[in-house]
Amino acid sequence: MPDTLTLPRLDDLHVHLRQDALAAQVAPLTWTGGAGRVLVMPNLRPALTTVEAVLAYRAALQAIEPRLDYLMSICLHPGLDRSAVRAAAAAGIRVLKWYPHGVTTNSSLTGSLSECAEACAAAQDEGLIVSLHGEAPDDPAQGIDRMNAEQAFLPQLVALHQRFPRLRIIFEHATSAAAISTLADLGPTVAATITPHHLLLTADDWQTDPHSYCKPVAKTAADRAALQAVVASGDPRYFLGSDSAPHPAAAKAGNQPAAGIFTAPILAPLLADIFDTLGCLDQLPAFATTRGAAFYDLPPAQGRISLQRRPSRIPAQINGLIPLRAGHDLKWTLGACKE
Ligand code: NCD
Ligand code: ZN
Repeated sequence: MPDTLTLPRLDDLHVHLRQDALAAQVAPLTWTGGAGRVLVMPNLRPALTTVEAVLAYRAALQAIEPRLDYLMSICLHPGLDRSAVRAAAAAGIRVLKWYPHGVTTNSSLTGSLSECAEACAAAQDEGLIVSLHGEAPDDPAQGIDRMNAEQAFLPQLVALHQRFPRLRIIFEHATSAAAISTLADLGPTVAATITPHHLLLTADDWQTDPHSYCKPVAKTAADRAALQAVVASGDPRYFLGSDSAPHPAAAKAGNQPAAGIFTAPILAPLLADIFDTLGCLDQLPAFATTRGAAFYDLPPAQGRISLQRRPSRIPAQINGLIPLRAGHDLKWTLGACKE
């Protein structure tokens, strides 16, 4: 087993960098954690619904942390028409991101996926990616709760793919065995991101620790095993999207903590630890650098990082933000980063 691992800076194709003072903390920490290119999510306040707003946000991020390469997304909602999608493509925006109403942080826009058909058709023609937060809203009458909300959404994924077979779709943060088996039957235009925390956690964790709580929630040990198996298998349609989603400590306290797990500052050593434990360290470079780039049609990742097999302690807090597994040790350390 190697004691040193050198790889390109990571492509983290699902991050929440936040805005204003919080972004000023989070963007530099994202670089420090080993990422080089990031797909930035649009669930700000207010949500990013116009090309102008996305470009202004990108400029603000570049001013904060110019070393990161920012790939941008815009909210997919029924008001996004064909000409807006064309304008987004012309501006270099890569992803239309759809959130189901009210299921997660700042998901206040309304509109079902079928109401977004014009934008999806345009995205298919323009080569943009549609990226889905795939959860059905909680509905006690239908027996839909946090544990089965992803499974309940899967028919909508299948329907979207059948209607737009050439449209590139990313099923973000897959968490369930049901999602993995549904994806197995879909074509090569449908991919999924997997987060480090869903390879690590189960429902036992978030029920007792708000810093392990995110949407979609970590599920059963069998679900986690399905995610681990697909990552170890080398399936090219699965790649890294950390869904690192920091919240101020106060928002994570109390009975109803905000959903979101903060991993950006520890991303590379956390992934090395997880892949090492799973016995599939050889899959890490493809998972975190080449497969996502291939699906997104990006040039090879730039820069190098180097990881050493020696313990590193996850800080108890970083500028008041609490990372996953704060205070615990990882088996790997991220060495001095080359630019
Ligand atoms: C994300 C956030 O806080 O922005 N939270 C989360 O639990 N994952 C939003 C999201 O991706 O669902
Ligand atoms: Zn997210």
